[in-house]
Amino acid sequence: MKSLKIVVLGGTGFVGSHLVPRLQRDGHTLKVLSRNRDLHRELGVLPGVSVDNADVCDRADLIRHLAGADAAINLVGILNERGSDGSGFRKAHVELTETVIAACAASGVSRLLQMSALRAGEGDSHYLKTRGEAEARVKASALAWTIFRPSVIFGFGDGLFCRFAKLLRIAPVLPLARAGAKFAPVYVGDVAEAFARALVHKHTIGRVYELAGPRVIALGELVHWTAQMIGKRRLIIPLPDTLGFVQAWLGEWLPGKPISRDNFRSLKLDSVSDEDGLAALGIVATPMELVVPALLRGQGRQQRYDTFRAEY
Ligand SMILES: NC(=O)c1ccc[n+]([C@@H]2O[C@H](COP(=O)([O-])OP(=O)(O)OC[C@H]3O[C@@H](n4cnc5c(N)ncnc54)[C@H](OP(=O)(O)O)[C@@H]3O)[C@@H](O)[C@H]2O)c1
Repeated sequence: MKSLKIVVLGGTGFVGSHLVPRLQRDGHTLKVLSRNRDLHRELGVLPGVSVDNADVCDRADLIRHLAGADAAINLVGILNERGSDGSGFRKAHVELTETVIAACAASGVSRLLQMSALRAGEGDSHYLKTRGEAEARVKASALAWTIFRPSVIFGFGDGLFCRFAKLLRIAPVLPLARAGAKFAPVYVGDVAEAFARALVHKHTIGRVYELAGPRVIALGELVHWTAQMIGKRRLIIPLPDTLGFVQAWLGEWLPGKPISRDNFRSLKLDSVSDEDGLAALGIVATPMELVVPALLRGQGRQQRYDTFRAEY
């Protein structure tokens, strides 16, 4: 396999901490750009991986970092913005993507893998709308692009099972907005595998891959299951939409914005797909039942930089 020089934006987060080691195992050299590399030094311990400080929104800085690279991967994404007018989402998704495209063109990097999300461009949330706009910019570019649209992603360090488990350990009662919203949770190792395959298979250029797990589950059921997995009996109360919206609005005032009105709007659309992008890439989707119990018992901790696939 040809060893590539890859620049990763947004690679210090949950997905990046699985993807970067996966690509490193293929012999690629990776430069991960971060707003604060001191917080993510652990990634740089891997041979062939460096974590550099960068202002990825600054075109000149990005051009400098992209010089000599074969491919760029854009994983930057936010679920919440500081205000509520959509400008934060626009900056992180649309404007940043425009900058990435321009910087790739200026530095001679022709290949771009762009992370997006299922239902991008649909509904009335700023999150999904700006995701869709970013996709449109990528598709209109002259780059050799591939777009990935995952449902919600699970794995060690996720914002789904790990986050709900944390909450359920302390809260005996959990009122839940949009409890009927459906997801097809997809394993982070499979997502990483999809990116790895796209990098080496030219037929993935110009294609959009929807990445969904094998089981469709409603949010309420998912939270119940999480409580069972951690051995807690909890009262989960599905909220009607009026109350759910109020909860989301109140959530914006809490530290870390556990839920926002924009999240609520995103949840109005089921994050499921009729397409099987993993299968199209020759990947058999990992069931959550295989990974999550061990994950919640803490057995995944040693495997942050590996995939569960190898273990199971
Ligand atoms: N996790 C999921 O379930 C899921 C589902 C569908 C799609 N996605 C998408 O997949 C991507 C990766 O998700 P993730 O869960 O790994 O996210 P994450 O843990 O929040 O990591 C995203 C990374 O992006 C960087 N970043 C965040 N805001 C930024 C900004 N305003 N400007 C520049 N860099 C910024 C951060 O790196 P530094 O702080 O080091 O700069 C952060 O580590 C995102 O685009 C996300 O929307 C995720």
